[in-house]
Amino acid sequence: MKKIKIETTLYIYESLDELPREVVSLMQKAFEARENAYAPYSSFNVGAALLMDNGEIITGNNQENASYPSGLCAERTAIYYAGSQYPKGKILQMAISAGSKNNTTNKPIPPCGACRQAIAEYEIKQDAPIAIYFMGATGKVAKSNSLVNLLPLVFDRSVL
Ligand code: THU
Repeated sequence: MKKIKIETTLYIYESLDELPREVVSLMQKAFEARENAYAPYSSFNVGAALLMDNGEIITGNNQENASYPSGLCAERTAIYYAGSQYPKGKILQMAISAGSKNNTTNKPIPPCGACRQAIAEYEIKQDAPIAIYFMGATGKVAKSNSLVNLLPLVFDRSVL
């Protein structure tokens, strides 16, 4: 038997003020997207904004459904749109903001496992890391330099 220890690295910023202007404006796009989320069942709004290599910003938000599993998270709404519109484009950065309509969401909210798997697919496809910034509605911001840091032991095409 051998024990394997997996380490990961995240950077935590006290607030958006510590980040470069380009990232602040990307996060502001995520805020705007969050406001437009369709989340009548959970009241938990999430917005995501992607900076593409052509300079374009693509946004997405969570879309819920009375048949709960038919809904989709903000991150996948954005990333699938990017994949469909720019099949050869690369995603440079991703900003995510989540906020409950019922509570204060002031700590970084990481993307769910299914979204991490979806983001991994595109990072592998483009063969370049995606910088991921995530936060609540206010407060600290977490940064991962690549999806790899958020999903050790990723399931990828190499096992197929
Ligand atoms: N949600 C996201 O949009 N992204 C995540 O990474 C986690 C969860 C959404 C799904 C659902 O509409 C609501 O948040 C509560 O789970």
